[in-house]
Amino acid sequence: MNSDRMIYLCELFMNRGKMNQIIPIASDHGGYEMKQFLIERLEDAGYQVKDFGTYSTDSVDYPDMIHPLARAIEKGEYPLGIILCGSGNGAQMTANKHPHVRAALCWNEELAKLAREHNDANILSLPGRFIPFDQAWRMVQLFLTTPFAGGRHTQRVEKIERLD
Ligand code: RB5
Repeated sequence: MNSDRMIYLCELFMNRGKMNQIIPIASDHGGYEMKQFLIERLEDAGYQVKDFGTYSTDSVDYPDMIHPLARAIEKGEYPLGIILCGSGNGAQMTANKHPHVRAALCWNEELAKLAREHNDANILSLPGRFIPFDQAWRMVQLFLTTPFAGGRHTQRVEKIERLD
């Protein structure tokens, strides 16, 4: 077997768990460029991507893209999603209006990991204008691969939705 074929088979084997995993992603114009970068990285890594827009740098209102993605998470169509806007704030606030959505605004790798481990976050919100693209990609990888730790965190997460 030649080495190209060997590399191809190794990559196929390493990506086998991701092939069926579809990652929904959405942004406004403030997160558009980082979104495009992340889509490329995700696809290179073997994930499928569902792009909820926006599709250019033209100015848009972030809820128009974020609500549809959050609704899909709410309905259980995808386990985890990625949202972006300039600061990450508007996107996170929009997503968190939806029942069963726990969107975490994160600025570094440790926070992205903790959002999964401690909060069972199902959406990662990124500040597209404030962190380096490579750092955002490392955060996305951690977010997608870190399991919820459970234990003492379970009842805390359950209490988030209890308002009485
Ligand atoms: C758009 O200019 C900007 O306000 C938006 O991307 C976001 O930062 C809002 O929270």
